[in-house]
Amino acid sequence: MASSPSLKDAVSTQQPLQVAKRLEKFKTTIFTQMSSLAIKHGAINLGQGFPNFDGPEFVKEAAIQAIKDGKNQYARGYGVPDFSSAIAERFKKDTGLVVDPEKEITVTSGCTEAIAATMLGLINPGDEVILFAPFYDSYEATLSMAGAKIKCITLRPPDFAVPIDELKSAITQDTRAVLINTPHNPTGKMFSREELSTIASLCIENDVLVFTDEVYDKLAFEMDHISMASLPGMYERTVTLNSLGKTFSLTGWKIGWAIAPPHLTWGVRQAHSFLTFATSTPMQWAAAVALRAPESYYVELKRDYMAKKEILVEGLEAVGFKVFPSSGTYFVVVDHTPFGLENDIAFSLCGILAGQLLFRWPGDKIGRKRFLAWLRNRLSATIMAEYPNNKTRGAFNASVFAMQGFGILAGGFVAMAVSAIIFVLYTNLLHTLLIQLLYCAGIGLCLEDSFNACCIPGSFKPIVGAWRCLKLLLTQPC
Ligand SMILES: Cc1ncc(COP(=O)(O)O)c(C=O)c1O
Repeated sequence: MASSPSLKDAVSTQQPLQVAKRLEKFKTTIFTQMSSLAIKHGAINLGQGFPNFDGPEFVKEAAIQAIKDGKNQYARGYGVPDFSSAIAERFKKDTGLVVDPEKEITVTSGCTEAIAATMLGLINPGDEVILFAPFYDSYEATLSMAGAKIKCITLRPPDFAVPIDELKSAITQDTRAVLINTPHNPTGKMFSREELSTIASLCIENDVLVFTDEVYDKLAFEMDHISMASLPGMYERTVTLNSLGKTFSLTGWKIGWAIAPPHLTWGVRQAHSFLTFATSTPMQWAAAVALRAPESYYVELKRDYMAKKEILVEGLEAVGFKVFPSSGTYFVVVDHTPFGLENDIAFSLCGILAGQLLFRWPGDKIGRKRFLAWLRNRLSATIMAEYPNNKTRGAFNASVFAMQGFGILAGGFVAMAVSAIIFVLYTNLLHTLLIQLLYCAGIGLCLEDSFNACCIPGSFKPIVGAWRCLKLLLTQPC
């Protein structure tokens, strides 16, 4: 995806950043911010939905073959015929629905373009569209481009159930569509049959469309995925959006599609024609091979992700997060408040900072990584398990901030001493000192720009660090 212009670009050209009004309210997304911080500081990026392993060989081979076979010119606008047929075959296997690949399928550049084409092709300015928050950020942006009025209904923990009464009162005569995403990014919630049926009846009753984003349909772990289009009376009013990226671990290919009855496909295709017109030809040929993978591929994918997710959930619980249930996807939502930082952004920045400092340890790369992984795990587990009261955590946080402030002013070893003293004073536990010293040693060895992760302008950093330190010490309850 194109990166947004940086402050440096604006300064170097002396021009204010410009953006059309319809996109004015969208700042750099939290995903962009976190991803660039993760890249900058070498942290593990858990914020963006892509795997750290490659897609299957048989699909990559098919792409190479397609390129060699000369399938390299513009594809038919709404999709390579063989790929459209493969999508229809897959949809029939998954939902039992028979669709006409010529009239009811539009191939797009990822699901993101399918979303944009659906909004721009079927929503008029002033139409109301209901979203369930939190949601994938492109929904709001493309709805804004379409001039829609967005109504948000929040899915709340622990189970993120659809608040049906809120939905009923949100629907008015101006409601054009309800957008759902199941399995859901970022909660991992899967819409139950009861929830889908209730939404379906409300949509039929009020003549409302449903746009359903099902990119995680193959990552359904604790229940079967149900497509809204398969519910009685719903295919006629549903646009089903999907893509290859998540299911085949090929997020960079950006191959997606929209399935809808001909009267809705018309609008989607009109927008698609003027957005991208056609999608990468050789990748569509390879995508056709992918979708015809044997069932064992999907079974293995699911088994693999389930095992990995179990490790993630156990690890998060072990270091003290409250983990909310997640039936599908690789996302889990956790409650960070036990760690005592003011909000999720402060928490993430603090995590990135700690990661940055620890990962700069010198020496052999693999040994260093192993050691630091161990150290980090020990640290978090110890802080959470052995010092569960807020005051101790406050002291820990304060000592980290103090290290930042003093680190800039006076060098790593002063930081080490000061933070250790603060920590010991406030915890009265001697072996904390040992852990803290280990932690500080990591910091002492890599002092440079330890503040950058906090995004604070240079000259204010020590002051802000000291202020945060003081504030934490004063405000943490005993
Ligand atoms: C819910 C959801 N829909 C759509 C997409 C984008 O899919 P694609 O990469 O195929 O554009 C994502 C990517 O993270 C997503 O989480």
